[in-house]
Amino acid sequence: MTRQFGRLLVTGGAGFIGSCFVRDILARRDGTHVTVLDKLTYAGNRANLAAVTEDPEQARRFRFVHGDIADAAVVAPLASGADAIVNFAAESHVDRSILDPEAFLRTGVIGVHVLLEACRREAEAAAAGRRAAAPRLLQVSTDEVYGSVDEGHATESAPLAPRSPYSAAKAAGELLVRSYHVTYGLDVVLTRGSNTYGPFHHPEKLIPLFITNALDDQELPLYGDGLQRRDWLYVADHAGAVEHVLRNGVPGEVYNLPGDRELPNREVVRLLLEHLGKPWSLVRQVEDRPGHDRRYAMDGSKLKALGWRNRTPFEVGLAATIDWFRANEPWWRAIRSGDWDAYYQRQYGSRLAGGVAAAPATAPAAASPESGPPGAA
Ligand code: NAD
Ligand code: TYD
Repeated sequence: MTRQFGRLLVTGGAGFIGSCFVRDILARRDGTHVTVLDKLTYAGNRANLAAVTEDPEQARRFRFVHGDIADAAVVAPLASGADAIVNFAAESHVDRSILDPEAFLRTGVIGVHVLLEACRREAEAAAAGRRAAAPRLLQVSTDEVYGSVDEGHATESAPLAPRSPYSAAKAAGELLVRSYHVTYGLDVVLTRGSNTYGPFHHPEKLIPLFITNALDDQELPLYGDGLQRRDWLYVADHAGAVEHVLRNGVPGEVYNLPGDRELPNREVVRLLLEHLGKPWSLVRQVEDRPGHDRRYAMDGSKLKALGWRNRTPFEVGLAATIDWFRANEPWWRAIRSGDWDAYYQRQYGSRLAGGVAAAPATAPAAASPESGPPGAA
């Protein structure tokens, strides 16, 4: 049965995927009220929610709270006013987790625990008749908890084998969520999303970094041989699948959210440069990421059986993303200012100094799209 939630608390709703979820729900004008709780880390951006705040009808159903999910005093009253909580909040960049892991654990483990304790209190209040029903919690997780999937496609029952501080923190958060379902009977659901791309993507990640660098004719730092494979999921499909699981998912269950297309990084870069009309000579082969996962690939049968289909083929999503970055230069220029240069130097300075010209892209052999995983759109 599809469930309705009149009051949503969306944590991390000023980030890339969370803001898409919020924009899409409020734009439907179905009366839903949304509160966003966001710490506004370097990745959080109120401009991502401008479409909501600049629309009087949507703005009336929207509230923004600047705060930390690890702060119980902030979280408790917000949980008490919510029918459901969707937790997008996380430190989300693998490379930053290698440079500075601590913040990943604080948000991904302690923060998730604070949310769970708040839900537990609300469940007690519901049991005592002080509120109608306990809030449902949806924990947004990632395919990276499976670690590198060298062959086949991971199903939800595959062992968790995270290999970076980012994915280890996400796996720890998941295990806490599941433990609160088993021990306290909390109504939780979990999603494991694939590599996501689209408008409002922070330019530290592969696709937006390479688009914005290429627009400026700057070098594109491709890690190692560039044959690592990712399964790309358009952001509106990720947000839509999260909402579908929120409304239809079975309590305590985990759902894989695969993408539309598994591709080697080199092929993603080739397509991106082709769309932009920029030369392959911008690509530099640089020192690899330590512990770099070679491949992510998930089985999507369970989500398909729940009734969800992705809508956006990779080429369509990539073209829309490139168009969006071209049209929204002030958005990404503002992010690529301030601390950006220091980050870029720390992450890429010596890599680019030691980089070499990347061997030409070989379309279409490495290029040909894989047949999608079971359950893909
Ligand atoms: P993002 O980095 O763009 O956004 C994260 C948001 O969380 C930011 O607005 C940030 O300010 C906020 N935040 C961070 N710590 C917080 C805290 N302690 N309290 C409150 N807010 C906090 O990330 P994203 O790409 O939108 O990812 C959202 C979620 O989806 C994350 O949980 C991530 O692990 C998961 N995910 C992302 C991808 C992807 O490819 N981007 C894929 C699968 C899963
Ligand atoms: P990223 O966008 O960081 O996502 P994730 O690490 O979560 O998969 O990276 C996607 C792929 O692109 C991954 O294999 C690492 C690679 N990559 C580069 O080759 N160069 C870069 O500068 C970045 C950021 C990523």
